[in-house]
Amino acid sequence: MRTQIVAGNWKMNNDKDATKSLVKDIKKNIKSLDLVNTRVIIAPTFVNLPLAVKKAKKSKIEVAAQNMHQAESGAYTGEVSAKMLQSVGVKTVILGHSERRTYFNETDQILAEKVTAALKNELEVIFCFGELLNDRKSNTHFEVVENQLKNGLFHLPAEEFSNIILAYEPVWAIGTGETATPEQAQEMHAFIRSLLVKQYNNKVADNMSILYGGSVKPANAKEIFSKPDVDGGLIGGASLQADDFTAIIKS
Ligand code: PGA
Repeated sequence: MRTQIVAGNWKMNNDKDATKSLVKDIKKNIKSLDLVNTRVIIAPTFVNLPLAVKKAKKSKIEVAAQNMHQAESGAYTGEVSAKMLQSVGVKTVILGHSERRTYFNETDQILAEKVTAALKNELEVIFCFGELLNDRKSNTHFEVVENQLKNGLFHLPAEEFSNIILAYEPVWAIGTGETATPEQAQEMHAFIRSLLVKQYNNKVADNMSILYGGSVKPANAKEIFSKPDVDGGLIGGASLQADDFTAIIKS
C-alpha cells in the first residue's frame, strides 16, 4: 500500500510567531486523527525550520525545507546546503517547485544536481514538476512532464526512488484557484506511473507516492485524492490555515 501524504508548502509566509502558532494548531487538530499510512509534512521558510522542528516534536508533523543548494558548501552567498538542513533536524526537501523554476531559473540540469546532493546527504526529496498552460493548450503536457522527469530524476538508480516523492503540479493551477479536474490529475498520474514502469520497474512505480498540487482546498481534496493514482497533495494557500489544512488531511 502506498503512503498517503499531505504536504503544506508555506512558501514565503509566516514569521516566527505565526510559525509557532500554526504548528501548534495543526498539532492540536491532528492529535486525535487516526493517521494510518498517512504522513503530514509542513515546509516553513528556512529561518523557521529549527523552530518548526522543535515545535513539531512528539507529533505526527514532519518538517521539510522548500529548497536547498546543490553544492556541499562554499562561496554561494545566501544559499543553504543539504548538510545544514540535516543539522537542524530536517529530513525532507522540496525541489523543483515551479516558482523556483520560473523566478529563480532552476533548470532540469540544476535540479538533477540538487536531487543527487539531497539524496547523498540522506534527505528525502519531494520533486515537483508540471506543465504550463500553453503546454496543455498545445497538447504537449505529457511530453513536457516526461522531459522534466527524464532530465531531473531519471539519472537515479531504481533503489534511490524509495527516497523520492513526486508532486505533479500543473503550473496553471498553482495559486490560481483553478484546479485540474480529478480526471486530469488521474490521467497524468497514471501516465507518470507508466513512465516509472518503462524506465525502472513495477516495484518503483507501485511504491511511488505521487502527490497532486495546485489549488487543492477542503472543498475539492476528497474528490482528487479518491483517484487511484493520486496519493495525496502538495498544498500551498490552504496549508496556511490550520483548519483548512486539517480538513485536507482528513480527506
Ligand atoms: P496552491 O499552491 O495550493 O496555493 O495552488 C500549491 C503549490 O504551489 O505547491
